[in-house]
Amino acid sequence: MSLENKLFKGKTLAILSGGGDTPAINSSIEAVRNRASMLGYKVYGIRQGWKGLLGDGDVMDLTCQPYNGCYGGTALRSSRTNPFSSKPGEDRVGQIMNNLKRYKIDVLVTIGGDDTNGAAKKLYEQEGIPVIGFPKTIDNDLRTRTMHEVDGKEIEAVICPGFPSAARTVARLTNMIKTTTESHSRVMVVEVMGRDAGWLTGTATFGGAHLALIPEVEITRERKDFFFERVNELYMRNPKRNLIVAVSEGIRWYNEETGKPEMVFASSEKDEYGHPRFGGVSGVVASEISRRLGIDARAQITGYFARAGECREYDRRLTATLADKVVDLLLREAYGQMPVLKSVVPYEELEEFNTSSIDMGSIGNKPLSCEYYDANTFTFTPHYHDFLGKVMEKMNLMNFDYDFPVVIPEK
Ligand code: F6P
Repeated sequence: MSLENKLFKGKTLAILSGGGDTPAINSSIEAVRNRASMLGYKVYGIRQGWKGLLGDGDVMDLTCQPYNGCYGGTALRSSRTNPFSSKPGEDRVGQIMNNLKRYKIDVLVTIGGDDTNGAAKKLYEQEGIPVIGFPKTIDNDLRTRTMHEVDGKEIEAVICPGFPSAARTVARLTNMIKTTTESHSRVMVVEVMGRDAGWLTGTATFGGAHLALIPEVEITRERKDFFFERVNELYMRNPKRNLIVAVSEGIRWYNEETGKPEMVFASSEKDEYGHPRFGGVSGVVASEISRRLGIDARAQITGYFARAGECREYDRRLTATLADKVVDLLLREAYGQMPVLKSVVPYEELEEFNTSSIDMGSIGNKPLSCEYYDANTFTFTPHYHDFLGKVMEKMNLMNFDYDFPVVIPEK
């Protein structure tokens, strides 16, 4: 196609990324930018999410610029700015409309989770801004309506760019912590991000975590007693005398003082979408294990490491595949939509025909499906392992099995 004949010549498409970063955002930006350029769009990048459309605007020209999608995070930077949480006298929606006009932006692609894409959809409905959403979150809790077929059964799963790379990191970190846990015969409580959903916590079991606690299952007083029994039993049964427990940052853990299950927060602050910041529940669980069972226990928060590092292979191809679907949405002027994977497929089957699109207004949150976790044993099921086995890159796990003979002194 010659330059003159390009379909969208003279039009401008802008990309923004909002919310917590992931290792796959630069890859998403690169993939959308490349395809939009081929259609003839001039491509802009808006910095710091919706914040870059407030005031005078903060807009970069990405057309023909070098862009490294393997590098994690987002070169456009991110923020949790909410267009609809204006302070008195501040009309954020008005500022956004004004900047879209000033910079002559025709279409907006919003890379984000429920918050960023929910706000984009509202702007589309209220103000008529042509928007296309693009999924993103390491929490993997967007309702992407991706079906997982296993043993003739259909389970509603989720696959969000960023999760496959984060999964590998959490599995790797858990596997690394095994050596020190074994050396000191300890219980190690590994805390994993994920807010209100346990999708990411399950990945620690790939790295060697024996038990897991997730936000979807409240830890009542009875469940807590049962959990301690399980910890004790598994620890004692292990000839190496050690145990790794993965806990989601957002679990509700029975608090002896207040007499009810409660979350543990790192701060009392809330972001502009009303989310509190979690952190520290692993320390509470570890100290109660030490106190109740008399077993040496420690806590380790994996935290932002899950969001850090390079974009892994599955995410590279996933973002490219979803960007192919963005082209389709642009050609059909199907705004207010977000591309998603139709079914859980391995790397080789990530192709556009496996995608579809959903209404950005009905994304919402998707907790971990009940088929993936066994609340009676505090473990993830074989169905979850089948799901993760498809989306997570294979890795070499460290293991050192030994059974040295005991030396008895000669008489
Ligand atoms: O939503 C992604 C996420 O990484 C959550 O898992 C975590 O609770 C939160 O963001 C942390 O956000 P912040 O970067 O604002 O501390």
